[in-house]
Amino acid sequence: MSNPNPPILATLIPGDGIGPEITEATLMALDALGAPFQWDRQTAGMGGVNTCGDPLPPECLESIRKTKLALKGPLETPIGGGYRSSNVRLREEFKLYANLRPTKTIIPGGRFENIDLVMVRENNEGLYMGYEHFIPIDGDPHAVGMSTGINTRQGCRRILEFAFEYALLKGRKKVTVVHKANIMKALTGIFLETARQIYQDKYIGKIQFEEVIVDACAMKLVMNPWQFDLLVTTNLFGDILSDQMAGLVGGLGMAPGANIGKDAAIFEAVHGSAPDIAGKGIANPIALMLAAAMMLDHVKRVDLGDKLRKAIDDTLNVDNIRTGDLGGTAGTMDFARALVHRIQNNG
Ligand code: NAI
Repeated sequence: MSNPNPPILATLIPGDGIGPEITEATLMALDALGAPFQWDRQTAGMGGVNTCGDPLPPECLESIRKTKLALKGPLETPIGGGYRSSNVRLREEFKLYANLRPTKTIIPGGRFENIDLVMVRENNEGLYMGYEHFIPIDGDPHAVGMSTGINTRQGCRRILEFAFEYALLKGRKKVTVVHKANIMKALTGIFLETARQIYQDKYIGKIQFEEVIVDACAMKLVMNPWQFDLLVTTNLFGDILSDQMAGLVGGLGMAPGANIGKDAAIFEAVHGSAPDIAGKGIANPIALMLAAAMMLDHVKRVDLGDKLRKAIDDTLNVDNIRTGDLGGTAGTMDFARALVHRIQNNG
């Protein structure tokens, strides 16, 4: 007889900086849950450079090509010069056009209560395409810096339809399109224009629709974040605003993300490799754990995803075990052990 719950092969990239610490903690939680994943461990980022001289080794790409599913720790990218971001390259390689970043209050009593927002960020186009150049003048090799952003009708339509469909599926009430079409009339004008068309053609009457300029959006998010529900925007704006949204619910340690596309899905924390605290055993593993819960939802094990989210909630709010970024004193592994205890005792 065939196994009703066969293991699901998935790529695991522990990542750089705090990556290995939070990955270990997350694997403890997944093991305690009996999650179905069978991991193929790979390296990328600085880890890839150090072990095989490549920030995105072919073995890693091959693994994801095969599994179509990955859990990824943060990958370091040199600032200014050096190699191109492995994160951006992974998103391009597997056409992971949708970056889904839910932001939800888990710990009550913070500056903002009852936050429940979703950011849908376009992940493949805009100003992240890397069409950048310096122009040397008079012996200064960097006299002029220039960047070209590209948004296509097809790319806009794809992400906007993803956002509307996701919003309807999840019972969201409103889709807010964030843009800067007053200044960047072509680059973000095409995004707004496509959003209006799609809404008129397919979604009018099914869900509310609004438009907001990105700078005003940033202000409104701190003045009254509850006016928003699901936001959808172009690559750079989504990157910035999703970090801001993480700040509404306790910081980057609480913010998960999923990169979803035609050829694969990669789950990760919104935060980076946090070099300032790497190796100290104090990083908050919750963002990666919540990303793992999204990954469980993605493979249709919402039961296990919910169990993990509930155990995180109880560990924070009933057991009061919290890492330093949340005002507590627990280390990464203290939190992981308490969480495993919760998973085992929550039934
Ligand atoms: P960062 O997100 O690594 O850190 C920003 C601040 O938040 C730091 O003070 C850090 O200690 C804190 N922080 C982040 N995650 C935390 C956690 N889990 N628990 C407690 N505190 C946490 O951003 P930064 O410093 O700008 O970037 C560091 C490196 O990470 C860079 O090389 C950058 O390119 C890379 N990066 C990678 C990402 C990815 O792999 N998806 C995303 C963002 C940055």
